[in-house]
Amino acid sequence: MKKKIVVCTDLGPALSLLTLRDDLDVVVWPHAVDTECPRAWLLENVQGASGLVVCFKERVDGEVIKAAGSGLRAVSTISVGYDHLDLPLLASRNVQVGYTPDVLTDAVADSAVMLALMASRRTNLTTSLVTSNAWPAFQWTPFALSAPQLSTTLFSPKRTVGFLGFGRIAQAVLRRLTLGFGVSDAIYTPRPEAPPQVMRDAELLRGLMPNLHSLRAVDMPTLAADSDFLFVLAPGGEATRHLIDESFLRRMKPTSVLVNNGRGSVVDSTALAKALKEGWIWGAGLDVVEEEPHVGVKHVLPAEQGVREKCVVVPHLGSATHETRAEMARLTVVNVLRGVDGEQMESGLDL
Ligand code: DGY
Repeated sequence: MKKKIVVCTDLGPALSLLTLRDDLDVVVWPHAVDTECPRAWLLENVQGASGLVVCFKERVDGEVIKAAGSGLRAVSTISVGYDHLDLPLLASRNVQVGYTPDVLTDAVADSAVMLALMASRRTNLTTSLVTSNAWPAFQWTPFALSAPQLSTTLFSPKRTVGFLGFGRIAQAVLRRLTLGFGVSDAIYTPRPEAPPQVMRDAELLRGLMPNLHSLRAVDMPTLAADSDFLFVLAPGGEATRHLIDESFLRRMKPTSVLVNNGRGSVVDSTALAKALKEGWIWGAGLDVVEEEPHVGVKHVLPAEQGVREKCVVVPHLGSATHETRAEMARLTVVNVLRGVDGEQMESGLDL
């Protein structure tokens, strides 16, 4: 009997690695290119599956795992995040779980630097001056719309960048900032439940970045108070929920910029809106938002006057480059194939 693999998401050309195998019955959500897979379709089609391919939007919880049945051998997600998967349950059923770390590190790090620059320069406000035809009335004076600078200069050499979570992506951001922006001081707070590896990597890193003079692990209040640019790169889940809350934001500098490329749930949106409106911090660049995807004209961050000018929001696109998404798709397919074939995944979670 053919093994069934259910694919809920668009895998681009990598899908053919599955469909070319005639020992597999590959069932693909037919509108994967432009619409998310409905839960009802997943629940109906997952029955009897050996392998399941999802993106971070599909919750693989008890209901889905039970619907799949005891033959489920592999779940493969096209994401580095895995807070949408019930790992303890999957582990208890000996299901391998694949994900896509490493291959997206550079794309997400690029996006974090982009958001830091866009938020500090208040691109939302400044581009709207052009698109709303307000440029002619704008009075160009030397200090109008000037902003905190990410790069260091001879006359302003001190810049502290902070990281909440200090895994691969945070370290790739720091590499960019030390090499390209002259940043020499960094602080970080490992995410709760971070493996000891993170601290060892941080030690190694100092040796690898000659421009980095100081790299310190600090507590949350110090992270808030000392960061000029703060990068949130922690995963989602209960352990990190609202780590950035009102009391954290109140401790930050009025010239500081917050960037979130981790998960929306780490930052309390209401507190952030208040912080921006009342000027506790300078700006925010968000690739992820707590309430996503319901972030539109009615959401306080991109919409409310006094907040939107200081906030740049993009719809969860950190890894969205041609090169990276193609590699994520390939890895996702290889993971699921190895899992259903009973081999070790190329990139599997240690459950
Ligand atoms: C991830 O990989 O977890 C991102 O959030 C989506 O690409």
